[in-house]
Amino acid sequence: MLILGIESSCDETAAAVLRDGNTLLSNVINSQVAVHSPYGGVVPELASRKHLENIYPVVDAALTQAGVTLDDLDGLAVTQGPGLVGSLLVGLSFTKAISAVKGIPYVGVDHIVGHLLSPFLEKEQPNFPYIALVASGGHSSIFLVNSHTAIQPLGRTRDDAAGEAFDKVGKILGLEYPGGPVISRLAEGGNPAAIPFPRAWLAPNSLDFSFSGLKTSVANYVSQHQQKNAPFSIPDLCASFQEAVVEVLCKKVLKAAQMYQISTVTLAGGVAANSRLRTALLNLGAERKIEIFMPSLELCTDNAAMIALAGFYYFSEKSTTSLDTDAYSRSPLLSPWSVSMHN
Ligand code: KG4
Ligand code: ZN
Repeated sequence: MLILGIESSCDETAAAVLRDGNTLLSNVINSQVAVHSPYGGVVPELASRKHLENIYPVVDAALTQAGVTLDDLDGLAVTQGPGLVGSLLVGLSFTKAISAVKGIPYVGVDHIVGHLLSPFLEKEQPNFPYIALVASGGHSSIFLVNSHTAIQPLGRTRDDAAGEAFDKVGKILGLEYPGGPVISRLAEGGNPAAIPFPRAWLAPNSLDFSFSGLKTSVANYVSQHQQKNAPFSIPDLCASFQEAVVEVLCKKVLKAAQMYQISTVTLAGGVAANSRLRTALLNLGAERKIEIFMPSLELCTDNAAMIALAGFYYFSEKSTTSLDTDAYSRSPLLSPWSVSMHN
């Protein structure tokens, strides 16, 4: 089965061709970082316009690199949400147009499900059930995954996502956007124990996250030093901030594994590209005899390979989406359950 995946939920226009759910024939990503960088964050209107410019060449490149044409495709998979609606609509409308003209079925994929299933793009794959942590610029959530399509949310962030906290701290420090990769690099030269930034554990068994207090604490630390004209070490600050995020993410996802007696944990989303998080989770997993799976670095951040893969599983269950379906900004995967479930 040959699937074309399309992703345009935020600031990456991406297309990928996947054969039989296991062979990635192409994975093209056009990043708009340079467009949004001067503003310190994604500007929705600019993002939609760039997606419009990029979608055709990106899809064309993905098909060419894969050595296939539209006529060879068995299905289309596109990110339907969550994300910026104006951006999502570009990918969704483009996909619907191909579907209508060529008579190829399509499925709308939830972006979070795409991230969550991304470890299956690798050779070493997790067994069900497993606990998944998705940590990205828009989401920090923990799920119990019983099959490729049976996914139960267990916890989510109550305010900022982990990647958002990295980006906001980057902005406070005047670093280039997005802050995550820059902070991660700067942290390599710093002491993670230098500044005792707070960790928000919430209620004892809560699997929810909260990162806004940490971000405020970093902002206060910086402004107090600036007011007194007192120097401070940016690498130490980056390492200490990163350690606070990593510790909470690791402990909560392992807590979920313990609570549900599950011995497999996966990590995905843009923040999963963080090397300290990867190492810390692998080490803690080894100590507790929990198998850890995570995609390679380029499959952690936004891409269309994960959307094509999720699409493959939907098609395998004979699920398709109708042409009158809309994009959505908030994931239905996260809405039906109450925050107090684990309090
Ligand atoms: O999954 P993604 O590409 O887009 C969303 O779905 O949000 O994630 C982007 C997020 C950004 O917040 C970025 O700063 C963060 O992932 N990120 C990182 C690293 N690489 C990307 N955060 C920490 N360390 C990194 N190495
Ligand atoms: Zn993402």
